[in-house]
Amino acid sequence: MAYVRNAWYVASWVQDVSSDKPYALSILDEPLVLWRAEDRWIALEDRCSHRLAPLSLGRVEGDSLRCMYHGLRFSTEGKCVEIPGQETIPAQARVKTYPIVEKHSWLWVWMGDPALADVSLVPPAVGFDDPDWILGRGFLDYQAEARLINDNLLDLSHASYVHANSFQGGDVYALERPQLETLSRGVRFSRWTTDVPGSIIRQSDEKVDAYMRYDFLIPGVLLMWTGQFPAGTAAACNFEKPDYSMAIGGVTFTSQAVTPTGDKTSRYFFSWGPHRNHGDEALRDFLLGVAQQAFAEDKVMIEAQQQVIDRTASPSIVAIAHDRGPILFNRLVEQLAQDESSRPIA
Ligand code: FES
Ligand SMILES: [Fe+2]
Repeated sequence: MAYVRNAWYVASWVQDVSSDKPYALSILDEPLVLWRAEDRWIALEDRCSHRLAPLSLGRVEGDSLRCMYHGLRFSTEGKCVEIPGQETIPAQARVKTYPIVEKHSWLWVWMGDPALADVSLVPPAVGFDDPDWILGRGFLDYQAEARLINDNLLDLSHASYVHANSFQGGDVYALERPQLETLSRGVRFSRWTTDVPGSIIRQSDEKVDAYMRYDFLIPGVLLMWTGQFPAGTAAACNFEKPDYSMAIGGVTFTSQAVTPTGDKTSRYFFSWGPHRNHGDEALRDFLLGVAQQAFAEDKVMIEAQQQVIDRTASPSIVAIAHDRGPILFNRLVEQLAQDESSRPIA
């Protein structure tokens, strides 16, 4: 399965990268080192051009990064600017650079043609600097290809089975399909569940109409809003998007990003928490605990699925109605990847 290269991939929560220590991560099987120069983040190939030691074992020196094997020093442009004990620097002593931006508390790396790196393509997530939301965060490493995690997030019917214990959403996720629409770089899902008791987010005896909506965007970023409304709201707004200011509780936001690190390894980043008007730090911590339980449930299933796929000679699937989301998204990925491969390299 191809992946889109002309896209911003999440490399890390910015809080998890120290400003004076290089940070190593592979994306699409390419080893990267992220580091903080004097006033900005830098992403370089994590491979010294001398004898291929990882630069992530190096030392940040102002606006340069020194390989701590034999001391070659590289600029923010990836050019070697010092070889200890030698005057001349060969032109080939340089490493590849990648566009990198910090946005919504994530560090995003552009893996495609640098000339096409467009910051407006960073998915509109919510960062920890947004005063409206009280978020918690984390990440999980998977021994599975990113596509399988994307497929999981593009079909939440699995919540009725995989997450019966954690999210406790009942069988509605499997029995009723969400509304689905295609976006220019993704797929949007929305769902009203009417006249139901509260949920783990907001426990109450009073019946509510619950709304959830999420966008799943290239290369594998999920942005989801939820809310609970007085019973009758869904019909009153014709099962369209409600006005969130009418919510009586359960207003949360989660962002999740799936980054293919290797061929069959991935890192899954997530945040979740309530809107400030509908919860506090205690609710955030409770939600994060539930999320960690739920994401561990997904990991068990997906890693086991990967093992079965690996043992299968010609793996193929039998698609069901709930596969519409994965099919639409994967078709978009294939289309964009194909456009990239037919485009002459700048
Ligand atoms: S491998 Fe980096 S300086 Fe020798
Ligand atoms: Fe799940």
